[in-house]
Amino acid sequence: MSKVPEEGGCPKDNFHLKPPTGTKRRTWGLVVIAAAKEGFQAVGFELNPWLVWYSRYRAWREGVHHNTSFFMLDLWKVSFSQYTNVVIFGVPQMMLPLEKKLQTELQDNTRVIACRFPFPHWIPNHSTGEGVDTVWIYDSQTFKKANRECLKPTKGHAVGH
Ligand SMILES: C[S@@+](CC[C@H](N)C(=O)[O-])C[C@H]1O[C@@H](n2cnc3c(N)ncnc32)[C@H](O)[C@@H]1O
Repeated sequence: MSKVPEEGGCPKDNFHLKPPTGTKRRTWGLVVIAAAKEGFQAVGFELNPWLVWYSRYRAWREGVHHNTSFFMLDLWKVSFSQYTNVVIFGVPQMMLPLEKKLQTELQDNTRVIACRFPFPHWIPNHSTGEGVDTVWIYDSQTFKKANRECLKPTKGHAVGH
């Protein structure tokens, strides 16, 4: 689970991450480490302490520990509002509630990348890879606009109690 704030001099369009590939690879921390290598100050959230410790060790081994932080935290207790790049590599059952959370918290200029499991309602702006290596790329402007249009009252229909 990773979220990455955009840094000055590193525009959002330069955020090209190679997603974790293959079911047997140890992906732990890789998204955050890849983002740090691209020049981002990158932050990861994970519940499993072993994965957090391993990710910290891996970041140190790869020389990016100054640009990475890994927290043993429940993402439901974290606000995503300060981030303009968010990468989710989670579990299928979190995608629906997470869609709602991000819809509410994110600003209009945020890019969200979902690895392996897509968001159920959002329509991706791009996708790449295949099978378990698929990633979906969403721009918050698109899903926020779609949500606003969905909520607009239909002309001529009103309900009163
Ligand atoms: C597909 S694995 C990704 C593992 C690892 N973080 C990585 O980047 O390779 C999904 C991970 O989501 C974590 N997870 C599930 N619910 C979570 C939550 N509420 N907050 C933080 N992490 C959560 C699980 O512990 C699990 O390790």
